[in-house]
Amino acid sequence: MTRDLYGLEITASRPETVQAINDFIHGFLSYQPKAAGIVVAADADPENALVNAYAALLWMFLENPDAPEKAHPYLKRAEAASGANPRERKVVQAVGHWVSGDVPALITCCDQITDRWPRDLAMLKLAQYHLFNQGDAAEMLRIALKSLPAAEDIAYIHGMIAFGYEQCHLLDRAEAAARRAMELRPDEPWAHHALAHVMLTEGRIAEGARFMESVAETWAGLNSFMRSHNWWHLTLFYLSQGRHDDVRRAYDQHIWGLEKDYSQDQIGAVSLLARMEFAGVDVGDRWDDVADHVAARGLDTVSPFLTLQYLYALCCTGRPEAKEMLAAIEARAKDSAAHDHAAWAEVALPAARGIVAHAEKDWDEAIQQMGMALPRMAECGGSHAQRDLFEQIHIDALIRGGRTSAAQQVLEMRRANDPDSVPLNLMLGEVYDHSGLPDLAAEARARAERTQARV
Ligand SMILES: [Fe+2]
Repeated sequence: MTRDLYGLEITASRPETVQAINDFIHGFLSYQPKAAGIVVAADADPENALVNAYAALLWMFLENPDAPEKAHPYLKRAEAASGANPRERKVVQAVGHWVSGDVPALITCCDQITDRWPRDLAMLKLAQYHLFNQGDAAEMLRIALKSLPAAEDIAYIHGMIAFGYEQCHLLDRAEAAARRAMELRPDEPWAHHALAHVMLTEGRIAEGARFMESVAETWAGLNSFMRSHNWWHLTLFYLSQGRHDDVRRAYDQHIWGLEKDYSQDQIGAVSLLARMEFAGVDVGDRWDDVADHVAARGLDTVSPFLTLQYLYALCCTGRPEAKEMLAAIEARAKDSAAHDHAAWAEVALPAARGIVAHAEKDWDEAIQQMGMALPRMAECGGSHAQRDLFEQIHIDALIRGGRTSAAQQVLEMRRANDPDSVPLNLMLGEVYDHSGLPDLAAEARARAERTQARV
C-alpha cells in the first residue's frame, strides 16, 4: 500500500506520481513552487485520479476567469480514472465543485473529507482559502481545530489554526499557535504571516518589523504570493515607522515584479501603492506598470475583493477600462443566482462606486458609497489588514473632502491602536490644524518626528 507524506493512502504505482503528489501537498501547505510540478506529473499519468485532481486544483488557484477552462481537462481525467480510493474520489468531487462554481458544495466536501481523514491538510487548506474569501472566520478556525488532534505533529496545522484565531480576533491564541508551528518548523511562512497580523493588530510595530526582518531570508524560495505577501506585511510596519526608503526598496525587490500576471501579486502592489500615497510616500511612476498588467486581465470578476483592487488601479491611473470594469461589477451584482450575490450587490457595488468617486475627487459620493460598504467588507473576503485599504480610501476622502470632524474621530480610534504611527500622526496634524486645534496638531507632528528619529 502506498501512502503520502502524512500517511494517507494513495493509489499510485509510478514513483514519479507519488513524488509529485507529495510535492504538491507539501508545496501547497508551505507555499513552495514545487507544487506546480503536479501538472507535468498529471500529463505523464493521465489515468491517475489524485494527481489529475490536484493538477485541476492548481489551475483553479490561477484566480482568473480562464482557470475553470484550464482545470477542466484534468478534472475530466480524474473523474474518468478507475481504482481511486474513497478519499481520492471525494477529492475529485471537491475539485469538481470548484470548477463548476459551487463553492458551498466544495466547502461541505472538504469538511466531510477532514471529518474522516483529518490529516488531509491539503483539503483543509483548500476549505480555509474559500472560507477566508467569504469572510467566515469562525468556520476557518473550526475546520482547522477539528484536525488538530490527529495532525499535532505537522507544523502547517498550527499555522492554519493561528490564522483562524487571528481572523477571529483571538490574538493570544493566534500567537501561541503560530509559535507552536515555529517550534516544529522555524521557517513556517504562514505562521510568520499570522504573527505579523497579530503584531500589526496589537500595534507592536517595531517588534513586528524586527520579527519579520529576522525571518525574511526564509521566504526567498517561496512562491510569489507568499514571498510578496509576507514582505507586504513587513512593509506595513515600515509605513507606520515612516521608513519611506525601506518601503520603496521592499516594493521594488520583493512585492512587485515576481509574477506580474498573478492576481495576488497585483493586488499586493495595488494596495501597497495606495497606502504609500496615503502615507505621503513618493511612488514615482510605479502605478503605470501595475495598471498595465491589471488592464491586461480584462473584466475579471472572479472575486469581489480582488476586483475592487483591480478597479482602484484602473481608476487612479485614469484608464478607460475602469468604466467597463464598473459595468462588469454592476452586471455581477445583478446575478441573483450566484452564491456570492449579496457580497457583490450589497457590498462590492457601493465600494466600487466609492472607488470611482474617490478617483474623480467627488469626495461626498466617495464618502457616502464607501461608508455604506465598509461595515460589511468582510463579506467580500480578504483579511482585516488587507481590507483596511477600503477604510483608508474612506479616510482619505474624509480629509480631502473637508470632513475634519468625522476624520478626527476615525483617526483617533486608529491612533489608540498605533500611537506612534508616522502617517497617522501627520494626518491628525492636518486635521487638527483645520479644526482650529493647533496645539494638538503640533503634538501629533512631534510624535511623528520622534518615531522617525528612532528608526
Ligand atoms: Fe495577510
